[in-house]
Order: sequence, then structure tokens, then C-alpha cells
Amino acid sequence: MQYPRRVLWISISTSILLFLVTSMFYIVSVRSGPILLSTKTDPVPQKPGASGPPDISTEPPSQNPSPWLERNATRTLVIAQLQAEDTSWVNTLVQEDPYLSSAIYVVDNTSAPLTVLVNKGHEVMVYLTYIIDHYHVLSDVSIFMHAHQITWHNNDFLGSDSAQMVRHLKSKYVLQNGYMNMRCHLQPGCPDHIHPYVGKDSDDILNVPEAGVIGIAWGQLFPHDPVPSVLSQPCCGQFAVSADRMRRVPQQHYVDYRNWLLATKLDDRLSGRIWEYVWQWLFTGESEFCPVETICYCEGYGICFEPSEYQLYFQIRDEARKLEAEVQELQPNEAEPTTQERIADLKRKINDLHGRMNKIQSKAMDVPR
Ligand SMILES: *[C@@H]1O[C@H](CO)[C@@H](O)[C@H](O)[C@H]1NC(C)=O
Ligand SMILES: *[C@@H]1O[C@H](CO)[C@@H](O)[C@H](O)[C@H]1NC(C)=O
Repeated sequence: MQYPRRVLWISISTSILLFLVTSMFYIVSVRSGPILLSTKTDPVPQKPGASGPPDISTEPPSQNPSPWLERNATRTLVIAQLQAEDTSWVNTLVQEDPYLSSAIYVVDNTSAPLTVLVNKGHEVMVYLTYIIDHYHVLSDVSIFMHAHQITWHNNDFLGSDSAQMVRHLKSKYVLQNGYMNMRCHLQPGCPDHIHPYVGKDSDDILNVPEAGVIGIAWGQLFPHDPVPSVLSQPCCGQFAVSADRMRRVPQQHYVDYRNWLLATKLDDRLSGRIWEYVWQWLFTGESEFCPVETICYCEGYGICFEPSEYQLYFQIRDEARKLEAEVQELQPNEAEPTTQERIADLKRKINDLHGRMNKIQSKAMDVPR
């Protein structure tokens, strides 16, 4: 009689134990879900100025960028604007992208929300002012650009459009390299561009006006660094830099550079141009910074050409442009039947060439992001 009772007790206590163990497992597994996930959850993007300074001590060491790559990097688009210029494209971009903020400096309106002490040195005053004022609250990536949306010195394969360039820009590439010139096309500016004038005559002064003054300016800006024999990077003063890279230069140095800009007697065009060929040295330590164009496009913007096709594209484009010029020349005599025929023939050829260009381009743009 006792035997069944013991069995009953054992089975009851086993069931209770089982229940307890199972519920423990359940609780643990339910809890571990969110805990594991929470380590992967992204912090809310930091919009500079929107909240207090981020805790810089929580930043990973700069030699290991991988933690930044697991989440979307925060980006700030810093723009140098004249009151008359239209920057609505910047606002559109910011509305599209929760990780993008903007800092638009209007240089010729002292009532603008963001402006500069003196409108001098073109975009350089804006860029330095932004870095000085946000040194401790920088986004992961800062993108420094002019206000105009469409310009010849933007990238051909992104419609020469600043908005497209920002949309396609790969933060990962900027974070890994620290610095990136937004322009992929080497000309003008690369390679072997400016040979600073240091007392010797130089042909450069005729072709590159800033060459005559950059040596003296260099000595004032960087008194401890010898003047490089050559300074080069793709032109025009638009680039992206990581926060880490900007903070490698002490904040006071940026203040000193801005004081130089405020004090210099150089014409605006010259002081601005000097910096076009100084930024790359400041942020990479390289006086000549000329990345391969196809690498810039592929890793920087996700537009990946076979190098041979990239060359072919420009050969075809040259050919098409030649024929287009010919059509222009013929147009005044369009009334003559033979000219009409010739123009029609040229236009067919031009169309074919454009077809081939489009094919090469769409193949490059098709690479999955
Ligand atoms: C990163 O941003 C994209 C586009 O805004 C979004 O779809 C994606 O969920 C984000 N990724 C993370 C990890 O937040
Ligand atoms: C200067 O900026 C203020 C503030 O944004 C604006 O109200 C004003 O119209 C601007 N002045 C000019 C001359 O455009």
C-alpha cells in the first residue's frame, strides 16, 4: 500500500520540479531574448545641437572602427551658403534620412541661425568654424560641401548633383579611411598639381595663381612642418571626414588656422584656394592625395566599373562630343538637302554612342549596395 503512495509522491514532486525547471528555462530564455537584442540595438542618432554632448569616453578606440560599422553612422552635412543661394536640396536630404543632420552657414547674413565672424576665405571660414564649435559633438562623419546642388566639379556619374553624392556616399569608406575627397575625378588637382613657390621661379605661378603664395602661407600655418615639394588632391574643397580623424588635430589648431584666415591680407580667392590643397595634408598627412577614380566611385559611392569599361566610357564620350560639335557647325546650313542627310547620319551615330555609354553606366550602377 505504501509503495503506490511513494510513487505518487515521487511523481508529484518530479512534476513540480519539472515545472519549476521548465519555467526557469522559459523565464531565462524570454529574458535573454531582449537582453541579447539590446546589445545590437542602435543608439538614437545624435543630431548636433539637438541634445547635450555625447559621452566621448564611450567611443571605441579609433584603431578598431568595426563597432561603428554595425550600426548606421550619423552624418552632418556642413554647407557654406550665400544668402542668394538655394539650399532646399539639403533640407530634402535631411527629411529623407534620419541619420543625417545639416549645418548651413549663411556667410553674408549676420542674422542667419548659423553664420561666420567675417565672410572671408570662401568655404574655409565655414568649415573651420564648424569644426571649432562642434569639436566635442561631431557626428561620426561630417560632409563639407558648397551650397550649389549642380556643378561641374561634382561627380559625372552622380549627375553632377550634390544630393546624389550625399545619398550614395558610403560612411563605411569614410570611417575606414578617415578622409575622402567627394570628387572622384582627378582633374583638376591631381596628380603633381602645385609646387609651392619657395624663392625659385616656377611656371606654376602662371597657371596656378595660389602656387606663388602657398609656400609663405604654409610657413605661417604649419611652422613646424617643411613645405611639401608638391600638393595635390582633386579640386574644389568638398570632402567627408570622420570625427576621429578631425579630433586627431587639437581644437586649438583649428582656432589658429581660423585666426590666420582672419588676419591674412591675401585675396579671398587665394586664401580659399590654398586650403583646397591643404585639407588632405591636414587629415591624411599626405601632401599628394590622388585615389584611383574607379576605387573612389566603387568604395566611396557603390558605383563599380570595370576599369577598362570606365576608360572606354570616356573614349566614347569624347567621340560623341566631337560629333555633337560637328552637328552644331552644320546647323546654319540645315536647309541644304546634303547637309540634312549628313546631320541625320551624325545624330544616328551620336545616339548609338549614348546607348553604349548608358549601358556601361547602368552596369556599374547595378552593383548591389
Ligand atoms: C539603417 O538605415 C536604414 C535606412 O534608413 C534602415 O532601413 C536600417 O534599418 C538602419 N539600420 C539599423 C541597424 O538601424
Ligand atoms: C537673414 O536671415 C534672417 C533669418 O534667417 C532672415 O529672416 C532674413 O530675411 C535674412 N536676410 C536677408 C537679407 O535675406
